[in-house]
Amino acid sequence: MKRIVLTVVLLASLFAAKAQPGYVPSEENLEARKEFSEARFGIFIHWGIYSMLGDGEWVMNNRDISYEEYKNLAGGFYPSKFDAEQWVKAFKGAGAKYMTVTSRHHDGFSMFKTEQSGYNVVDGTPFGRDVIGELYEACEKEGIKLHLYYSQLDWGRNDYYPRGNTGHESGRPDSGDWNEYKDFMYAQLTELLTRYPNIGAIWYDGMWDKQPEDRQEWKSMWDLDRQYELIHSLSPSCLVASNHHSAPFEGEDFQIFERDVPGENKSGFSAGQKITSLPLETCDILGASWGYDICKDGDYKPLSEIVGLIARSAGKGANLLLNIGPRPDGSIPEKGLELLEKIGVWMDRYGETIYATQGGCIPEQSWGVTTQKADVLYVHVLNHEDTIFLPLTGNKLVSAGLFDGSGPVKASQYKEGIVLTLPKPAEDTPDMIVELRFKNNL
Ligand code: GLC
Repeated sequence: MKRIVLTVVLLASLFAAKAQPGYVPSEENLEARKEFSEARFGIFIHWGIYSMLGDGEWVMNNRDISYEEYKNLAGGFYPSKFDAEQWVKAFKGAGAKYMTVTSRHHDGFSMFKTEQSGYNVVDGTPFGRDVIGELYEACEKEGIKLHLYYSQLDWGRNDYYPRGNTGHESGRPDSGDWNEYKDFMYAQLTELLTRYPNIGAIWYDGMWDKQPEDRQEWKSMWDLDRQYELIHSLSPSCLVASNHHSAPFEGEDFQIFERDVPGENKSGFSAGQKITSLPLETCDILGASWGYDICKDGDYKPLSEIVGLIARSAGKGANLLLNIGPRPDGSIPEKGLELLEKIGVWMDRYGETIYATQGGCIPEQSWGVTTQKADVLYVHVLNHEDTIFLPLTGNKLVSAGLFDGSGPVKASQYKEGIVLTLPKPAEDTPDMIVELRFKNNL
C-alpha cells in the first residue's frame, strides 16, 4: 500500500515538476514532500535580538534605527530562560509535526554559529549559545522536523547593494558588491546544512525587497538556481520554499501563502498566487505580529479561530504554520503555552480528520470546509447551521455520524446531493465534525 501511495505521489510530483523544466526532485525529496503534506500543522518561531525591543521583527526598519545602533542589542542578548527542549516539547504537545524558526531575519543577525560574520548569537552575544543548534538537537530528540527561515534581505550588510525597498535608514554606504553578498548567503547555507544535516526545509523570505518586473530577471538577480541546487545537493531531502508572494519558481518544493488560506487574498500578499500542485503551506500569526510585541504579550487568537484556521487550511490541502514570538528572555508567554496545550487536546481528539487528509472535494461553504481520506469525508462545521447541503453525487453514502460519537446526524441522500440535519453544538465546540463513509473512495 505504502509503495502504491508513494508511486502516486511520485507521478503527481513528476507531473508538477514537468511544469518546471530542468528540476527533477529526487526520491528523498518526494518522500519528504509526502511527509510534509501529511503533517498539516507546524509552529513558526520568530525570535532574534529584535525581541529585546518588544516591537516586532521589523523594528529596525520601522523606527529608522541605524545598523551601528541596532547591533548594540547583541551585546545585551542573554535569554536566560531559553530551553530548546521545553519549546519543542510544547510544540509537539500541541500536535505540531514540525517547527520553522528564524535562523536569520531581515536585521541580518544570525541565530546560529557562523564563520561568515561575527554578528551571530555565539560570537556576538554574552549568551554565546547556538540557538539553532540547540533547537536542532531538541527536534531530533523529539522526532519532529526543524525548518529554517532564512532571510535573503539584509538591513545590516554593506554588500546588500543595490539597496531594495526597505531598510533605507540603516546608515549603509551607497556602494557594495552584490555578488559578495550572494556568496555570503551561499556560504551560510552550506554551513547550516552541513552542520545540521537533517533540516527539513529552507524557508526563504525577502526577495520581494528587490523585484524587477520580469520574473526571469528577478530569479537570476537572486541566483535562485545556484541556491536551490546547493540545498538539494547538500541535503536531498531538504525542501525549498520561498515566501515571495508569487507563483513558485523552478526548484521550489512547496508553495507558501502568507496570512491567507490558499485561494484568499485578505493579506494583500496573495493576489494572483495561483494554487499549484506542489504541497501547500499557509503561515499565520497567533498574536498581533510575528516577532514579540511587548504591548500585546498574550493577546492571542482564541482557540476557536485557530481550530478554524487549521481546518480551513486542511480543507484547502494546506499545512498551517502558526507563529509565536518568544520574549527576549527566551520564554514563551504563558498564555501562548496554555493555548498550545488546548490546541494539543483538540488535535489529539480530532487530528485524524486533519493529518494526512486531502483537501475536501466540496469547496468551502458558509458553514465550513471538508477534508477527506479514502472513502471518508469529514465535514467541518465551523459556523453552525441546522441543515447543510453537500453537492456530492454518484457515490453511495454508507454511514453518517459525529466524528466523536457524541450524537447522531440525520443524513438523506438524493440524486442532487446529501442533506445533513445537525444537532445543536455545545457552546464551546469550535468545529462540529461529521464523518461520512461512502461505498467508494472519494
Ligand atoms: C513577511 C515579513 C516578515 C515575516 C514573514 C513571515 O515577509 O517581512 O517579517 O517574517 O512575513 O511570513
